Amino acid sequence: MKNENNFSNQERNPLQSIEQWEDDVLQRYPEQDQPAKAKDAFRNYDNPERDTVREFYRLNHKYQTYDFVMEKKKDFLRFNRKEMPVWGAMEFLNTLVDDSDPDIELDQLQHLLQTAEAIRADGHPDWFILTGFIHDMGKVLCLFGEPQWAVVGDTFPVGCKHADKIVYPEFFADNPDVRDERYNTQYGIYEPHCGLDNVNMSWGHDEYLYQITKDHLPEPALYMIRYHSFYAQHREHAYAHLMNAHDHAMFEWVKKFNPYDLYSKSPHPPVVQELKPYYEDLIAKYLPATVRL
Ligand SMILES: [Fe+2]
Ligand SMILES: [Fe+2]
Repeated sequence: MKNENNFSNQERNPLQSIEQWEDDVLQRYPEQDQPAKAKDAFRNYDNPERDTVREFYRLNHKYQTYDFVMEKKKDFLRFNRKEMPVWGAMEFLNTLVDDSDPDIELDQLQHLLQTAEAIRADGHPDWFILTGFIHDMGKVLCLFGEPQWAVVGDTFPVGCKHADKIVYPEFFADNPDVRDERYNTQYGIYEPHCGLDNVNMSWGHDEYLYQITKDHLPEPALYMIRYHSFYAQHREHAYAHLMNAHDHAMFEWVKKFNPYDLYSKSPHPPVVQELKPYYEDLIAKYLPATVRL
């Protein structure tokens, strides 16, 4: 199989910045009360940003095979790259600089603080706020040299048929799993309603951070972290056939989380140093002194 060294730089980093993926998701799922402008932008097929995002999805859908996911888990779930305090990991994440315009793009830490502060403003429990704060920490995968399409992008189950509700489903034609009879039926290697815990998702920052935090946070927080990019289910409901009743109950939290992720971006950057003591306390309450990445 292809390992990461076989990818050209063009194939590894089709986006100018990984935020382009999130900007595209936002155009696909505009906030209810202001749909018109965003929908127009989404329909603008001449937009060069959209071509970039299309190319990103072409690569994502082609290379995220069952074997690819297994390889990534075997490698990254050894957690042998770094060990650091959570706040340090967030600062490490913030060293991720790309070609986006620094005047208009918020950095990673600002997105995470805005998400968390919006959750806090609505009076949610502290573990929910903490989840907002750390939910994208898994994007440190980019700093370990991973291709963008193996860090961000909508996630989907591997090992079974790809739902046509996944964005750009036509690009799965290039994924060898669609010609593998173990993987190309509705259930593939899974049983009906087997529960998502038994299902392998495409590899990226969601599953990675779930594996880092799984022994430390309440279960709804873990669902939010693990499935926040699983738009094909939490927005499109295309994988109910693999879910059990417990998954459905927990996905209420995933749905509750999503608007904070998508719609909390404001042009006013939070003042990191003012907020740091509060978040350091939250981290200390739930998470170990250091995490292994
Ligand atoms: Fe994310
Ligand atoms: Fe996010």
